[in-house]
Amino acid sequence: MPVVILECRGVSLHYQGGDGAAGREVLRGVSFTLKAGERLNVVGPSGGGKSTLLRLLNRFEDPDQGKVLFHGKDLRTYDPLEIRRRIALTLQTPVMFDGTVRDNLLRRPRERRAALTEADLRGALEDVALDATFLDRVAGELSGGEKQRVAIARVLLMRPEVLLLDEPTSALDPVAAGHLIETVTTLNQEKGLTLVVVSHDLNVVRRLSGRLLFLAGGEVIVDAETCASLEHPTHPAVRDFLAGSLP
Ligand SMILES: Nc1ncnc2c1ncn2[C@@H]1O[C@H](COP(=O)(O)OP(=O)(O)OP(=O)(O)O)[C@@H](O)[C@H]1O
Ligand SMILES: [Mg+2]
Repeated sequence: MPVVILECRGVSLHYQGGDGAAGREVLRGVSFTLKAGERLNVVGPSGGGKSTLLRLLNRFEDPDQGKVLFHGKDLRTYDPLEIRRRIALTLQTPVMFDGTVRDNLLRRPRERRAALTEADLRGALEDVALDATFLDRVAGELSGGEKQRVAIARVLLMRPEVLLLDEPTSALDPVAAGHLIETVTTLNQEKGLTLVVVSHDLNVVRRLSGRLLFLAGGEVIVDAETCASLEHPTHPAVRDFLAGSLP
């Protein structure tokens, strides 16, 4: 019986408005559970709260109400740095540190850096379809898609238990996107890596398969075992979303 690794219980969050005014509620009563080794697709319209949800799972935000549990314990009881290693997040817009790709891949506490070999770095780049010549490239000069892949290689080297990917293929061509999905699916199937992937791209969602969480207006509209409800939507919010999507 797989164990529940992450759980959101009645999570609500609002960002502060200007001048300390109460801001808009961005997540409202969000509840779901994620079992170890599952693949969860988070789908929904722009502004629906998908990136905010990933930030909550990674402790970049804390809920105003409700709680997030990791292995059954409130996320707030863990050291945030430990959480960000065990539950790794790559952002929708990747951030590169100064220096080369190698510097970026090695950016971590000294004892963890020392444990990484040149072969590990090459392997991590290979996982995201970049060859070893990228190690010496200046990270800030890479294309958007290359930066995104370096950011993913960097978090894969942390050997996280849960990988949160925010729009991981939005800057990639179909071949690179396919390779990335294959890499993370293999890690999921062979190493039990738990995956949470936000994507607008229905091809990515279909390819990843797994569970579906449809978020709109900060609320969970659909929480399903499969993504099949995207093929035959019954909820109007899902139908509206799909009507605006490319086939
Ligand atoms: N730091 C912030 N301060 C105030 N409001 C914010 C902040 N970040 C996000 N928001 C608002 O919260 C809502 C949800 O944003 P979020 O980025 O989670 O949406 P999303 O579903 O990821 O959208 P997209 O598909 O466009 O990436 C939006 O209305 C957004 O404007
Ligand atoms: Mg987003």
